[in-house]
Order: sequence, then C-alpha cells, then structure tokens
Amino acid sequence: MKIGTPKEVHEGEARVAMTPESAQALQKLGHECAIEAGAGEKAGFSDADYKAAGVEVIKTAAALWKTCDIVAKVRVPTDTEVKRLREGQTLISFFNPAENEKHMKMAAEKGATVIAMEMVPRISRAQKMDALSSMANIAGYRAVIEAGNNFGRFFTGQVTAAGKVPPAKVLVVGAGVAGLAAIGTSTSLGAITYAFDVRPEVAEQIESMGAEFVFLDFADETQDGASTGGYAAPSSPEFQAKQLEKFREMAPDIDIVITTALIPNRPAPKLWTKDMVEMMKPGSVIIDLAAERGGNCDLTVKDEKIVTDNGVTIVGYTDFPSRMATQSSTLYSTNIRHMMTDLTPEKDGVVVHDMEDDVIRGATVTHGGEVTYPPPPPKVQAIAAAPKKEAPKELTPEEKKAQELAAFKKQTTQQVGLLAAGGFLVLLVGTVAPASFMQHFIVFLLSVFVGFQVIWNVSHSLHTPLMAVTNAISSIIILGALIQIGSSSYLITLLAGVGIFMAAINIFGGFLVTRRMLAMFQKS
Ligand code: NAI
Repeated sequence: MKIGTPKEVHEGEARVAMTPESAQALQKLGHECAIEAGAGEKAGFSDADYKAAGVEVIKTAAALWKTCDIVAKVRVPTDTEVKRLREGQTLISFFNPAENEKHMKMAAEKGATVIAMEMVPRISRAQKMDALSSMANIAGYRAVIEAGNNFGRFFTGQVTAAGKVPPAKVLVVGAGVAGLAAIGTSTSLGAITYAFDVRPEVAEQIESMGAEFVFLDFADETQDGASTGGYAAPSSPEFQAKQLEKFREMAPDIDIVITTALIPNRPAPKLWTKDMVEMMKPGSVIIDLAAERGGNCDLTVKDEKIVTDNGVTIVGYTDFPSRMATQSSTLYSTNIRHMMTDLTPEKDGVVVHDMEDDVIRGATVTHGGEVTYPPPPPKVQAIAAAPKKEAPKELTPEEKKAQELAAFKKQTTQQVGLLAAGGFLVLLVGTVAPASFMQHFIVFLLSVFVGFQVIWNVSHSLHTPLMAVTNAISSIIILGALIQIGSSSYLITLLAGVGIFMAAINIFGGFLVTRRMLAMFQKS
C-alpha cells in the first residue's frame, strides 16, 4: 500500500510524521512511501533526503491525499483534511476523539478508517507506538530547558572563588511521562528536585531518579483517586485540600515549578493557585505543561509567556515537542512505523486491520463505516497518600522517665555481662598462654572493645568515610619506619623509606577521601 505524509497545516507546527529513516523501515514492510514537498523542512529533513530514501515527493497536499491509501500525519486534521478522506482510506494521526465527534462522524460516513494515536493504550506491548508518551517525554525535557532559559541562576549549587551558589529547588507536579522526564532532566542538571503525584506507585521511581517524593499526611488511602490504565482518576476534595495545603507551605521556597498533572479528557486540575504564585520569590519560573487543558496554574495563559507583578515567569506553551522538531519527528515517525508493523503482519504491504487486537482496537476510532470510539474501558488502581505509619503514642513525663531508665538498665546489664565474659576469657587464656602473648592479647581485646563502642553508634551511611579516616590513622606504622630510617644498613633504610612513602599515601589519601565523602553529606 502507499503511505503518504502531508505537510502539517497547523500554524507553527514543525513536526513531520515520516522521516527518511522511518520511510525505509516502512518500505521493508512492503509499502510505498510518499511525502508532500517541503513537509520535513522545518524538522531538518529535505526533499532530497526523502528522495534518497526512496520516497516519492508529491507537489501538493491534494494530490497526496488522493493517491495514498494511508495518510500519516501529526496534528488533529482540519475540516479540509477530513473532507479529503475517502472510502477505504486510513488516516493515522492525533485526532482528539473525545472532543472531535463531528470529524469522527464525517470520517465514518465516508467509510474511512481513523487510527487516533492518542488512543494507543498504555500497556507494555504498545509502548513502541505510544506517541503521547514519546511527545510527553520531549515536553518534560524541554520544560526544564525552558525553565532554565527563564531562570536567572544555575540549577546546580556551586562553590566558586566569587562566592557560593545555592542549588535551584524544582517541584514537579504530576509524575507521569512528562513529569518523570522533567525530574530526570532536573536532577541531572543538579537541582534539588521534589515531585508530587496522586499515584503512590510512582514514589519509588521518583526517588530512584534522585528526587524527593512529597508525601501528604493523609490517612484515608482507600478513597476515590484511583488510576485507570496508567492514568490517574480524580481525587477526593479532602485529598485536594491537603495537597494545596502542602504546596502552599512549599511555595516560598521553590524556584521552579513544572506542572504536568492531568486526568485524560478532563480540564486540568488547578493545583498552583494565585496566592501560591504570589508567595514565590521574584525570578521564579512556572512551566505549565497542562496549558492545553486550561493549565494547572491559575494564572497560566495558553501559548504565552507572562511575568507576574511579583516577577514570576509563567510559561504556557503547548508546542514543546514542536520546538524540538527533529527529535520529536524521529520518535513520532517511529511510533507510526511500529503501528504499521502491527497492521502489516505478513510484511507484504497488505494491511490487516485486526479489531481483536487490543492495541489496534483501542486506537481505532472509525472503521467499516462506523464510529468505534470509545473502546472498551481499561482497569483500575490507587491514590497517593503517605504510607500509613502507626502514630506514636503520647507518653506522660513519668512514663518517659521510666522508659529511659529501663533502657539504661538494659544497656548497662548488657555491657557488664560482656565485660565479665571478656574478663573470664582472658583469665582462661592466661592459664595456658605465655606472658608475652598475654600482653599483646589484652591490647588486642581492648582495641576491639573500644573500636566496637566507637563504630556502633555511627550511622551506616558514614561507615565508608569512617573507614577511610581509620585507614589514615592506622598509618601510625610510619613512626616505626621513621625510627628505622637512620639505620646503618642500606637495606633497612631503603625499606623504611619505602614504608614512609606508602604510609604517607595512606595518610593523605585517607584524609582526602574522608573529606570528599563527608562533603557529599553536607547540604549547601
Ligand atoms: P500522564 O497522564 O502520563 O501524567 C499525568 C500525571 O499527572 C499522572 O501521573 C497523574 O497521576 C498526575 N496527576 C493527575 N492529577 C493530579 C493531581 N491532582 N495532582 C498531582 N498529580 C496529578 O500525562 P503526560 O503524558 O505525562 O502529560 C502530562 C501533561 O503534559 C499533559 O497535560 C499533556 O497534555 C501535557 N503535554 C504538554 C505538551 C506541551 O507542549 N505543553 C506536550 C505533551 C504533553
């Protein structure tokens, strides 16, 4: 079959649904490829590149729509484009079926099949076709870059000769695909990153990326904010109130807010209110990725960048993927190519539209003269609240004292018991061992005891720096070498010199490593 990609007609859209690379892969499936002249220009792909990849370059959109069996494009089709559809033709594109009933009906009446790329279900098998995810990934990355562009400071903290620079504090609201991409970019740039989501299952993922999950002190885990098919569902008013309370508390301290919270087919929830914006420091930045659906921030203006009276920049662009057109075209065209692979099971250029296949069924919104939207619904999951901790019981001062006394008694009994056992062991060994051995043995036992007492109370995370410093201290053997270096024997002097050299490496290296490691625990 012949697959064609027209030039995007939406103003400012730079993406293209077919790249020379994806065209080559499509040809391997037995299809012919065509492109409208100039369609890939803004994404960095010239007509010559397409021709070299064996793609036919067609002069006009009208001719392309007329001659191709399958039309692949990016943006939701315009009225004119839908009118161009004909019987038996397939359109693969974003389609916004939930709000595009008119065009869906028109396409169905014409007998055309429409595959809406945003309807690809979020299941593992379909990840390679999930265009919403690939675009959201780019948007999340770009949101951080855009924030950095509008933020007057570094992301990472630095200590320079000219002064100390604190790291930026970034809050990402909504840790779906875009949110996770933003978290990854933000932490890799060195910012202190916090993230919040209503789905608790993302907490671990957020923390593994080096960010801190913002937990709410919310007791009822069983309430309604479940997630369905990888997307969130609405949360209860009590949960929302707690969420806003937490954000209000954080607002004065946060430099950059990236909001990506969305529940499909609903207006974006208002999570960053006007008073929170007013609490932020001048120079702070808000990137509202949900601007398309009204924005998560009260003050967002769709497709615009504004600066509030208190100097906070709010970016409401809805075309982040298009701002990285080469990358997004490459990913989107790959999504389309994978969809075509599923539609061409025999790789013989013959499309088999299998409505029993979950992914194809889920994405198909018109087929066989009928509107097939919505597809059968996906399944359910839960909402984020802090994992339930047993609230510590309030103790009276008397109870507290009694508890402390009991703990002290227990510890003392343990230590006395240990000392008694140690003493008995020494006596036992002393009855058989020579006196010279006993001297060393007692020193050994005492050092084990002191070492144990010192290290026992040190937090685990500090064990490595502690090892490094003990390593340095243990190089006390340098003293022995220093005593021997004045010996009349050349060999002893040489050995002592080597000993001093080696021990010096141990001492300086040990302290250096300790310093570096401890610096990792210091908050700038
Ligand atoms: P997603 O559905 O994967 O993620 C949304 C996340 O928001 C989910 O993890 C969900 O649990 C969370 N969420 C929902 N309600 C919440 C609430 N009240 N509080 C906290 N978290 C909440 O969506 P994806 O793909 O990551 O997209 C995120 C947003 O980015 C969407 O609004 C999408 O339209 C937008 N987007 C914007 C682009 C642009 O150029 N501006 C480009 C691509 C996507």
